[in-house]
Amino acid sequence: MIRLARIDHVGLRVEDLDEAAERWCSQFGLVERSREGEVVRLACDDEPHCLELSAGRGEAVGIEHVAWELHPDCDLDAARAHLEGLGIEVDEDVAGGLTCRDLDGNRIQLLPARARTGVEGYVQHARPAAGVPGAPRKLGHVNFLTGRLKEQTGFYTDALGMKVSDRLEDAGVWLRIDSEHHVMALVDTGAAHPHHLAFEYVDFGHKIAALDHLARHGRWLGWGPVRHGIAGNMASYVRIVEEECFVELFCDMERVPEDHEPRNYPDDRFSSNTWGPLPPRSYFRFDQAAIESERESLETRGVPLAPLE
Ligand SMILES: [Fe+2]
Repeated sequence: MIRLARIDHVGLRVEDLDEAAERWCSQFGLVERSREGEVVRLACDDEPHCLELSAGRGEAVGIEHVAWELHPDCDLDAARAHLEGLGIEVDEDVAGGLTCRDLDGNRIQLLPARARTGVEGYVQHARPAAGVPGAPRKLGHVNFLTGRLKEQTGFYTDALGMKVSDRLEDAGVWLRIDSEHHVMALVDTGAAHPHHLAFEYVDFGHKIAALDHLARHGRWLGWGPVRHGIAGNMASYVRIVEEECFVELFCDMERVPEDHEPRNYPDDRFSSNTWGPLPPRSYFRFDQAAIESERESLETRGVPLAPLE
């Protein structure tokens, strides 16, 4: 048996640790929580951390791992026995947890349950602040592109115990741990690549301030703002050229009951964006041609993006 409690953090491999730490703090309002050797940990508010930056040392930059906190009902031994029982290779992790990989090779870290006592157990607004005004409320979810949606969905439900919230025909699956509609999503584009990490904002007003700030730093949206048909969240996707991913800024995500039955949404424009446009093709790509096309909004101006070789 395995049971997750929540998403803990995303590990990002970066080119230049000092540059990246300063950039994520000044652009997204994160605060630096700790610095040990080649690792810098950043937080949205008063959580221990939500982003773990590590120096690239020549390796590919981008989302390097996603860490999940186990539920108090499930210790590390139980999680290891469960994963090994499914034939999954598990290793000890330097952070005191376990590490394994999904079927696309994305690294997963499992951390022991952490007790929250006293004030730390209160609702966020009743705890002492540690962030800066305007910072995201929390890290909410991650999204990965894949070329084998069915098998990857099986991995996250069987190996990690997530539940399917909804499907977009054969194109996507949204997965949950608790009542929040999703903490993880998989989109089938024919090839594996981490797509985005998502920060939650209080409401659209909070997001406007954040998006204005990001635009003044030269950032642009690859897609959005949109109102997703699936999950209902209002989402805006900021391109992070430096770490080959997007950051989604979202608010107002659907909550589902414990006995929620997965729905199968039609793969149409409305399921993806009740307000209007689907994303340009560049939104699903991380190559230079896609980035340059998106930077100047070329697809919208009638210049198609050449297919990848
Ligand atoms: Fe998302």
